[in-house]
Amino acid sequence: MKKQLFIGGEWVEAGEYRPLFSPYSGEQIAEVAYADAAEVDRAIEAAEGARPLMAGMPAHERAAILERLAYLIRDKEEECARLIALEAAKPLKTARLEVERTITTYKFAAEEAKRIQGETIPMDAAPGGEDRIAYTIRQPLGVVAAITPFNFPMNLVAHKVGPALAAGNTIVLKPAGQTPLTALLLAELLQQAGLPAGALNVVTGSGSVIGERLVTDERIQAVTFTGSPDVGIAIRHKAGLKKVTLELGSNSALIVDQGVDLDAMIARAVTGAFSFSGQVCISLQRIYVHERLFDEFVRKFAEQTGKLKLGDPLDAETDLSALISLRDAERSLQWITEAVRLGAEVAAGNRRDGNIVHPTVLLHVDAAAKISCREVFAPIVMINKVSTIEEAIQLVNDSKYGLQAGIYTPDLRTALAAAEALEVGGVMINDIPTFRVDHMPYGGVKESGTGREGVKYAILELTEMKLICFKK
Ligand code: SIN
Repeated sequence: MKKQLFIGGEWVEAGEYRPLFSPYSGEQIAEVAYADAAEVDRAIEAAEGARPLMAGMPAHERAAILERLAYLIRDKEEECARLIALEAAKPLKTARLEVERTITTYKFAAEEAKRIQGETIPMDAAPGGEDRIAYTIRQPLGVVAAITPFNFPMNLVAHKVGPALAAGNTIVLKPAGQTPLTALLLAELLQQAGLPAGALNVVTGSGSVIGERLVTDERIQAVTFTGSPDVGIAIRHKAGLKKVTLELGSNSALIVDQGVDLDAMIARAVTGAFSFSGQVCISLQRIYVHERLFDEFVRKFAEQTGKLKLGDPLDAETDLSALISLRDAERSLQWITEAVRLGAEVAAGNRRDGNIVHPTVLLHVDAAAKISCREVFAPIVMINKVSTIEEAIQLVNDSKYGLQAGIYTPDLRTALAAAEALEVGGVMINDIPTFRVDHMPYGGVKESGTGREGVKYAILELTEMKLICFKK
């Protein structure tokens, strides 16, 4: 499989290609274009050229393209899921869920394209504003650079491409180096769906070469990025006056209060910790359990963890497969060793077979251990004991991240107090922090990012408000 660049509605030969390997088997699965600065420049030029056409396209036409795209993905559901499993080592059953969500995201984008609106302003509310009628409209920004991660290679692309097109922008998309194949398939499907040439361009290759061009080029009006805080912060520093949306990492936490029915929630907590081997920005990484329930919680959690099946991502029974790279698998084990050195106890896991890290449960982890204070992005969860919910909230907030948090409690007052006090972008009451559906506002505070996704909210980020004022 040789994969070219997609520029100006055409498959374009690149000067260089590099092999792409399966993270699970290590076998070569494709040969992918490795764009240089001049090729990125061509992609930006194509996006710039398509700008007037997209900005002038009626909302119903933009919606129709996105609806057709959702149908085309539905037709290729299984092919998409297998491609995700192949390039990302995401277990097939999780990959199938991602494809379902992707279809939903594009359907939301199609609907939201028809609902982009402004408001009327009561101008006479201020002296001097009499005899004027004013309203706002929202206009597309122009060319959007979308830089996407490996962990949801279809749906996190959809969260950028869907809203950008719904709003009438054009895009240069740089998918993650390990997962370009689904993004390139998307380009093919969008072309079939009737998207004008140049409205979506896909450039694959080095994050630093492509990223540098996209973030600093003056023809680009906005950068939307999902990935690590280090890269996100660097983008923000270089982007000048461009609009920047950043969805960065977290060490998401769950609080479990006394009086909670553990049998009703343990399986869910285990899913939150180990889905896609913890390579999810809102993966459940820290659990603070009330001392009255601690021993029972740990026993049940470890028992449930023991039921998970490890193996080939293309096997429909597999729950956990390889991490995205050997380097990440090795790092995971080093972080566990560090936590143990700082006093943690291992309740499950602490093993790896090649790139597969066994689901690992650590108890009594020191707050200074990386497992606690950094984003793990691996199947490792810590469970610590707390005496009060106030103590738990303080521990959750003692973090440089703030994406989502969860609390299970039978007490309404505790739930409401926690919801207010937790320093995050979203609080899940009686659920894990890993909960997300695709139209809800999603984003973080602190080093977890700036701006919000969730289709309607991403459209707000990718449009500019304009005031129009008539003097009678
Ligand atoms: C993410 O990893 O940021 C996305 C999580 C999700 O969409 O479920």
